[in-house]
Amino acid sequence: MEIRADKILVIGANGQLGSELTGALRQAYGTDNVVASDVHPPKENGEAGLFEQLDVLNPSRLGAILDQHRITQVYLLAAMLSATGEQHPKRAWDLNVNGLLHVLDAAVEKKLAKVYWPSSIAVFGPRTPDHATPQHTVTDPGTVYGISKLAGERWCEYYFRKHGVDVRSLRYPGLIGYQARPGGGTTDYAVDIYHKAAEGVPFECFLTADTCLPMLYMPDALRATLELMGADADRVKVRSGYNLAGNSLAPRDFAQSIRKFVPDFRITYRPDFRQQIADSWPKSIDDAAARQDWGWQPAFSLDQMTEGMLTNLKRQKEKVEI
Ligand code: SER
Repeated sequence: MEIRADKILVIGANGQLGSELTGALRQAYGTDNVVASDVHPPKENGEAGLFEQLDVLNPSRLGAILDQHRITQVYLLAAMLSATGEQHPKRAWDLNVNGLLHVLDAAVEKKLAKVYWPSSIAVFGPRTPDHATPQHTVTDPGTVYGISKLAGERWCEYYFRKHGVDVRSLRYPGLIGYQARPGGGTTDYAVDIYHKAAEGVPFECFLTADTCLPMLYMPDALRATLELMGADADRVKVRSGYNLAGNSLAPRDFAQSIRKFVPDFRITYRPDFRQQIADSWPKSIDDAAARQDWGWQPAFSLDQMTEGMLTNLKRQKEKVEI
């Protein structure tokens, strides 16, 4: 049998997660072994490297790119998030579920070694126990995004069992990073708040002060992803999506932490339709399965994340102003 070197395709490379994960994968596997792709052209300020324009809803183009670059692993990050999904329910379903099915089918056809696909805390719903939410529990999502992620988890497990596809997934909490802004999520406020603080302007939050949600700093999320994908296959016992926890935080917690670095930071609260989405999600997550199976351990505290976010955002702002 031919043994191929790891060659990775990242789909959705321009997004919040893709912008950072592509760089992390290039560091780990070598720049030439990671092909970035997105439905949009490469970002002007993005890093240099192989890039293909790709709509994941076009399976023949996907197949052609997999062949052309002799891809062995796919990271499928293209998705419509919770708040935007509520504005475009059918489009969200199409992208989030059919996009995944195209990749899983391609994994079978092209005998891909591994597939990564992110799930989310959005698979949970109002009847899910919302403190220390267990790995296996009630899943009654109320958003199209959550419904699509839950269906996707079932498809992943199905393709693993029926076709032997080595597909791996994490149920990400809200992800907080400085390189790219998220688009259309309910946890996006936790990124926006740092941008406002770094600019020295007040922040109006679309959730109430004490709406607690699970959150994770991007460096932890990147490491979790690489650790899960690097684990021996027999250690990956959950083939739907692993619970993953960092810190459980409310807008008030962020504001208090920011004030340690920006003492006059001001925040006001004006909840909108996203409040209802947030209220249906867990407040904290039990990620014991990830810890036991492949050794997951978050590293960053809230204040460490705040310091990292503010330092990097201020640095970015200074660069733009030069
Ligand atoms: N960050 C996502 C959202 O808010 C949840 O996975 O939609």
